[in-house]
Amino acid sequence: MSEDLACSTLSPRDWDSHPPHIYPFYKSTSLRGPTQPLLPIKQALSELTAPVYGNHQLGPLDHDLTKNAITNGDPLGERIIVTGQVMDEGGKPVADTLVEVWQANAAGRYVHKADQHNAPLDPNFLGAGRCMTDSKGRYRFISIKPGAYPWSNHPNAWRPQHIHFSLFGGYFASRLVTQMYFPGDPLFAFDPMYQGAPENVRAQMVGRFCLDVTEADFALGYVFDIVLRGPRATPFE
Ligand SMILES: [Fe+2]
Repeated sequence: MSEDLACSTLSPRDWDSHPPHIYPFYKSTSLRGPTQPLLPIKQALSELTAPVYGNHQLGPLDHDLTKNAITNGDPLGERIIVTGQVMDEGGKPVADTLVEVWQANAAGRYVHKADQHNAPLDPNFLGAGRCMTDSKGRYRFISIKPGAYPWSNHPNAWRPQHIHFSLFGGYFASRLVTQMYFPGDPLFAFDPMYQGAPENVRAQMVGRFCLDVTEADFALGYVFDIVLRGPRATPFE
């Protein structure tokens, strides 16, 4: 363990920049959100040293959701490239860290037994991927733009198109689970998950269309930078 790491301290999470634990319009938060004040827990060494992932467990197609589950052809839908930089609370790139994503297919359906939405599964699309950030904290996925899907939160409830992200960063205490949305989605105004985040930080959850990332005759490109902790942290979902 480096001295640098041993001296690391994390500033407290700024809850004014994240959705509240209980947000009544997002129904299930009322069931799972804590009703008692949170107890501060003394930072332990393990929270600053673990987990550490190597890249030896990743397959060569894990980052390419258009290829990692093919059975008889290419998946249907609009191809996208999603890339960005992972940073710590000081704006320093977080290198060699695992980024995991999961999402619905182009029709708005997950490969999960709990998802009974009457939309087709795609035999060539699993909707899960992972990659490591490079030395500059950058990650890159190739995927299919996910479809909106209905959920049972309230009558006629639909989730905006989104990709789920999970990151640990360098240690447990920098864990972040969030969602990337797509610009200009008309469902933002009706989505309690999106609306649950304070207004001033919602834009941080929206990927930015980028022509420089877009590849001619192949895929549209989006940039989604992620900050793991501190005042500029990407909102927890
Ligand atoms: Fe989702």
